[in-house]
Amino acid sequence: MRKTILGVLVSGRGSNLQAILDAINADRLNAKIGVVICDNPDANALRKVAGTGIPTAVIERRNFAAKQDFEAAVIAQLDLHHVELVVLAGFMRILSPRFINRFPARIMNIHPALLPAFPGLDAQKQAIEYGVKVSGATVHFVDEGMDSGPIILQEAVPVETEDTVASLSERILHLEHRLYVRAIRLYCEGRISIDGRAVKILPPRQKPKEEGELH
Ligand code: GAR
Repeated sequence: MRKTILGVLVSGRGSNLQAILDAINADRLNAKIGVVICDNPDANALRKVAGTGIPTAVIERRNFAAKQDFEAAVIAQLDLHHVELVVLAGFMRILSPRFINRFPARIMNIHPALLPAFPGLDAQKQAIEYGVKVSGATVHFVDEGMDSGPIILQEAVPVETEDTVASLSERILHLEHRLYVRAIRLYCEGRISIDGRAVKILPPRQKPKEEGELH
């Protein structure tokens, strides 16, 4: 089966990128990373792909006068590598409506909370400070709002009384790695349909019957 080409956008640590790479290498994801784009030359994420042969592009916002020009450079890289699905993996920038409309229902993001609770920065800190008993992770399509696009998958973790931001973040991160790979796999398998805000997960496709097989 043809592999879906991913463009992974990162800014920092790169653990979700690593989880995606691991899934691809273990044949758990029928995808190929066409390019990793990073807006931070010092990001650890760049080390995750060093020596893998995966193309990387470091595109820093400060090298462009306008956001639009920065985004045009990102889009040029995505196009150059024929990216089909844009995967935001700890990419700490808000994309403009223009960028988003360029890839309709083809940009995914992972967020470390059960949206619509705690959007934006420091979601785990927001959860601890609010005193919720359950938090989790959300994979969603990106729309023009802040972490507000149609939700693809969510999973919860408990928040314990003794939790700190660090311990909760770690628990959620384990979950993120599994959840993001699952969502990307669903996309690659053509099993996601969107109707307004509602994302439907379709059943696995039947394998076409072999010639001569009984019907
Ligand atoms: C992850 O926890 C991800 O959910 C979060 O940044 C971290 C990146 O970690 N993203 C956001 O908060 C986006 N609003 P990673 O670089 O190790 O994948």
